[in-house]
Amino acid sequence: MDKGAFMEKEIVAMPDKWPFTQHVMNLSTSIIREILKISSQPGVISLAGGYPSPDMFPIEDIKQAAIDAIDEFQSTALQYSFSMGIPQLREAIAKRETELGSSTKMENILITSGSQQGIELTARALIEPGDYIVTENPTYVGALQAFNFYQARYAAIDMDHDGMLVDQVEVAVKKYKPKFIYTISTFQNPTGITMTEERKRALIDVAVKYNIPIVDDSPYGEIRFTGKPVPTMKAVGGEAVISLGTFSKIVAPGLRTAWMNGSDKIIHTFEKVKQGADLHSGTYVQYILYKYLETGKLPDHIKDLIVSYGEKCNLMLKEIEDNFPEEMTWTHPEGGLFLWCELPSNMSASKLLQEAVKEKVTYVYGHPFFPDGQGDNTFRLNFSNATLDDISTAIRRLGKVFRRNMT
Ligand SMILES: Cc1ncc(COP(=O)(O)O)c(C=O)c1O
Repeated sequence: MDKGAFMEKEIVAMPDKWPFTQHVMNLSTSIIREILKISSQPGVISLAGGYPSPDMFPIEDIKQAAIDAIDEFQSTALQYSFSMGIPQLREAIAKRETELGSSTKMENILITSGSQQGIELTARALIEPGDYIVTENPTYVGALQAFNFYQARYAAIDMDHDGMLVDQVEVAVKKYKPKFIYTISTFQNPTGITMTEERKRALIDVAVKYNIPIVDDSPYGEIRFTGKPVPTMKAVGGEAVISLGTFSKIVAPGLRTAWMNGSDKIIHTFEKVKQGADLHSGTYVQYILYKYLETGKLPDHIKDLIVSYGEKCNLMLKEIEDNFPEEMTWTHPEGGLFLWCELPSNMSASKLLQEAVKEKVTYVYGHPFFPDGQGDNTFRLNFSNATLDDISTAIRRLGKVFRRNMT
């Protein structure tokens, strides 16, 4: 037989026949990513993604840090490196975490490729098919995507303005024996809500009583523009908590550099899980961030972000006040990148998105954030990415859409 012809036939036949597992075949693509595609059309104002403002990226400082990193570390910056991350960056992060209230050593820090990887590694290490996870209801879609891959089930806990309802957590823990509690306790994605210190203490009590780890995903915690700071979950809960931090919202998400902070034993286990995932995060980018942190400019940069996002959030709230119908409600975040709106319960934010797109505005409708599939009358607005003028225009356009659909 002509071997070449045989090979060709096999290759053509293959694509339909890959033996993907059933749960991979069932995966759905992120709705946010789909909405972002519409958002990038010309003239559309996006209040959809969780993008930081591109105008705020410290481009010149990162450029200088990139030069300094290669000058100082030469080929080391381009070589394979440690799964845990480069010691200099881990040390610098440990120092920052300690300043933020949780006494941290380098041994507690594992560098990850975005905090999304921290979420994925957690899922990979802890979830077996059918296991329950406690989450807020609603919660971050990217976490649900990662957990769904491992066929998790959810004990989704409702929230009020003080965060997750901890009484419900204890009931759920007894009933479902969850593997861990996943929370975004500060300036939550999607609601913008921050868990009070009292609630945090109550949640930690439940976690310790039933020996269930808390994973506190905290990309937004440092971006507080109003109100009184609340101690971090890690500061309150110590070793009961694994916290996930990231440079994505305070420096730039394209750097894909983040960290897990946990007890050294737990972190050592995650080191092995990470080895199988990607060996280690990019060496050069870690040196760049190390050199950037060494300049001491990050605290002032965060202050600038706080001023800018605070101004944008205030403007968005004022425009909402003036333009949204009185039947609607919305959150008043003290920091972060998002606020959360509710239409009357008989209305659908997913249906109204089509009208909003005709008016050249996008938002993310709420139900994908709910593990229990509710929330079709809710949606999330991002205020960091659009300009002040665009925020005003977009909210006025949305106001028109909602007012004409009020029944
Ligand atoms: C709650 C939450 N966790 C994790 C991430 C992912 O962040 P990173 O860019 O560090 O992967 C995001 C991004 O928006 C987020 O909102």
